[in-house]
Amino acid sequence: MTSNEKQVTSNQKRAPMPLKIANIVGARPNFMKIAPIIDEMKKHAEIEATLVHTGQHYDEKMSKLFFDDLGLPVPDVYLGIGSGGHGEQTGKVMIEFERIVQQNKPDIVLVVGDVNSTIACGLVAVKLGIKLAHVEAGLRSYDRGMPEEINRVLTDQISDYLFLTERSAFINLEREGIAAEKIHFVGNVMIDSLMKHREAAEQSMILDDLKLESGKYGLITLHRPSNVDLKENLERIFYALFQLQRDIPLVFPVHPRTRKQIKQFGLEALVAQASNLIWTDPLGYLDFLKLMAHARLVITDSGGIQEETTVLGVPCITVRENTERPATVTEGTNLVIGMSPQRIIEESYRILDGNGKKGGVPELWDGKAAERIVKILLEEKSILR
Ligand code: UD1
Repeated sequence: MTSNEKQVTSNQKRAPMPLKIANIVGARPNFMKIAPIIDEMKKHAEIEATLVHTGQHYDEKMSKLFFDDLGLPVPDVYLGIGSGGHGEQTGKVMIEFERIVQQNKPDIVLVVGDVNSTIACGLVAVKLGIKLAHVEAGLRSYDRGMPEEINRVLTDQISDYLFLTERSAFINLEREGIAAEKIHFVGNVMIDSLMKHREAAEQSMILDDLKLESGKYGLITLHRPSNVDLKENLERIFYALFQLQRDIPLVFPVHPRTRKQIKQFGLEALVAQASNLIWTDPLGYLDFLKLMAHARLVITDSGGIQEETTVLGVPCITVRENTERPATVTEGTNLVIGMSPQRIIEESYRILDGNGKKGGVPELWDGKAAERIVKILLEEKSILR
């Protein structure tokens, strides 16, 4: 036997090394995006998937509930970062995550979305020579005043695999000089989660608990700094909601940032006067999905909710000047109307009068995005090894 043949025989005996992928979650909108990816990875013995939770969101209601509802495994690593200024939060994640990467040496770090944990873990990975995959790449609001926009642009610049939810993102990335071979249009993992849990969500008793009837209430979410961090802006939005709640109950699961601001601005007493504005703590995934699916209209400044309402066919009014998710407007039920209370009122009544925007489901939002992502990463295994 030649020495070459000996080498081959001993290699064959060794079990093939799995592809080690560290999947990152940090904040609420990350959980429903990672869940279907982890599910899919677990089906493949060639992948060793770990889940790292940075702890950017840490409350029972902003984090733990989602692990239960989505069937996410207990994180392999919890960094316990918590809240803080942007620099503090991003910096703390980087310090802690660098230690983990040095210990565990993953082949790929996979990040989702646009939160501070996304860019923080991405930077750590590439500086240690680890390949970076970004799910939900290429979305742009072209508003650099949004912290998320900075996170999006920078994460895409350093990523090796860019997975797109909609075709418009190609043009954004091309403009920023990203090589076409790194870009893969795979669809929307958030919609994978929605489709998987739609039936289970129907079992939720949230409508009964809140004494609501299907199709006879509006659903409100607000948390963007541009809407809630300035007293004047928040008051303007509340003015519109006060008008509207006279004609239809409005359910308002309040984000911790928004709750804090309402208190700080001394608006609690004012808000309490609106008897048909139903305040709740942040809700779990299944309860919220049921509320969205049965709402007459949704008023929001969230990114993900624009997409979910499009798939559910529920009219959505987005209280922002722009959206990074144009497919929800060109194809879906979303209307981006800015922050004028007059417009909020006008468009809401248009919906209540039965003239809400109709729409279809964007390309590849079919529940199979995670499958496509994992297939592509597995094809790359031979390149990495
Ligand atoms: C973050 C993301 C945003 C995402 C949003 C969804 C960034 C820059 N922003 O914004 O993209 O749409 O999450 O929720 O990453 N808090 C709690 N409990 C928690 C989490 C937060 O009380 O579990 C408090 C924090 O202490 C902080 C405030 O809420 O005062 C805001 O949290 P933060 O993580 O800074 O950003 P979000 O506004 O939630």
